[in-house]
Amino acid sequence: MQAWSEGERLHLGAEAEVISGTWHGRPAVLKKRRPRGWRHPDLDASLTKKRMTNEIKLTIWLARRGAPVPAIWDVDIEESKIIMERIEGKPLIEVLRNNEHDEELLINVGKAIRELHRNAVNHGDLSTNNILIDKNRNPVLIDLGLSSREYDLEGFGIDLHVLHEILRASHPDVKGAMDLVLRGYQELDEELGKPQPAPGGMPPEAKDVLKRLEQIMMRVRYHGG
Ligand SMILES: Nc1ncnc2c1ncn2[C@@H]1O[C@H](COP(=O)(O)OP(=O)(O)OP(=O)(O)O)[C@@H](O)[C@H]1O
Ligand SMILES: [Mg+2]
Repeated sequence: MQAWSEGERLHLGAEAEVISGTWHGRPAVLKKRRPRGWRHPDLDASLTKKRMTNEIKLTIWLARRGAPVPAIWDVDIEESKIIMERIEGKPLIEVLRNNEHDEELLINVGKAIRELHRNAVNHGDLSTNNILIDKNRNPVLIDLGLSSREYDLEGFGIDLHVLHEILRASHPDVKGAMDLVLRGYQELDEELGKPQPAPGGMPPEAKDVLKRLEQIMMRVRYHGG
């Protein structure tokens, strides 16, 4: 029996193709990075490999620490393929559009982001497409190709700022969404206490990241970036 059994295509984007299937009988997806025609092939191959290796390394590290990311089950770096646990559910963008969200869900989104940050990882591409809401309404963060280990406040503040901008631009009718996300972000530190050291140093506390977010927002307001 083949370990991987292929089903339907779920997504075809500029960077990646995602196909649904099973891995040893369990719901899985295959994510393949696509070559990008407009870049030089050598540069393209090395960028692809770098982003994929990054995604694999940090996703596995986060899963090990209990953060809400899919389990990675198989990788093929040469072929640019990852097989991972399929999260049954839909991206936050759809949940908001269909008006299926509530306060608790948005608070839990904030907590999920904070779990990454408590483990010294910033996401790097925190859009409402990259936050999946599973069948039990738990948020799961995916697509960590641009994430990095981080100890400086700025990267964490930027993650929250990016999400804020997206919520404002794409979901203007979802009032107060970001306030709820930030409430959850702070509440997790109140529940769990100070973050534990990660390899490389101490991740910053939620209250300091929130102060930095305010500074970033002022900077953008007065200087446009
Ligand atoms: N583990 C998963 N379980 C369920 N669905 C997934 C999973 N991983 C990815 N998907 C689906 O595939 C989509 C694209 O995946 P992902 O965000 O990782 O790729 P991407 O790098 O953004 O691709 P592109 O940049 O080409 O759009 C997601 O928005 C989600 O709908
Ligand atoms: Mg994505």
